[in-house]
Amino acid sequence: MRGLMDKIKNLVIYDADKEFYAKVFPDSVTKKDLLRLRIMTHADLPSVLEIERKNYHFPWEEDIFTDCFKAGYSCWVCELDGKVLGYSLLSMAVGEAHILNISVDPTEQKQGIGRKMLEHLIEFARGRAETIFLEVRPTNTAAIALYEDIGFNEIGIRKGYYPAENGREDAIMLALELF
Ligand SMILES: CC(C)(COP(=O)(O)OP(=O)(O)OC[C@H]1O[C@@H](n2cnc3c(N)ncnc32)[C@H](O)[C@@H]1OP(=O)(O)O)[C@@H](O)C(=O)NCCC(=O)NCCS
Repeated sequence: MRGLMDKIKNLVIYDADKEFYAKVFPDSVTKKDLLRLRIMTHADLPSVLEIERKNYHFPWEEDIFTDCFKAGYSCWVCELDGKVLGYSLLSMAVGEAHILNISVDPTEQKQGIGRKMLEHLIEFARGRAETIFLEVRPTNTAAIALYEDIGFNEIGIRKGYYPAENGREDAIMLALELF
């Protein structure tokens, strides 16, 4: 019976609307299955800014997000039942993709949302760029663990890149080849 359920689940999950399936067989769909990635809009900014302020000592203000929209950067939210749980932003120029921000609501962290968004950005960049870059604070052990697990390699240090309580903090630069 279980094998049959798994088969049906795999078939239907693959081809049908997951939310509809979740209503019919609620136990067989995980929260992760129901996460949706979609393009960020201005209407998302209140939720995005709330998460941004919870996550960072030096959060981006609204104008930075709107500048990213204007610049045509790839801006995404990850949502569940219409609630924004995380977001990610990627710029692209001459064969280089750059992750500008990736952030998950603190109450929703450690459930695979960051990994899902990062994998999505990598797939989005593949075929459009040869390398994907990002910066991270050396103290951000959770993010570094995620990036290294995905396969990013350290390529250098940017001195005094981030604002910090007592002046500036260096950034570790990481890169992943996409071919
Ligand atoms: C970094 C961040 C986006 C990760 O999102 P997340 O949804 O919590 O991460 P996931 O649940 O997908 O975890 C993926 C991997 O990251 C690593 N990881 C995540 N949180 C971790 C923690 N607290 N400690 C150690 N490793 C951690 C693990 O390797 C994990 O893999 P595992 O689940 O197989 O153990 C999230 O912690 C966050 O929003 N932090 C605040 C904002 C930020 O610092 N963004 C990055 C700026 S460079």
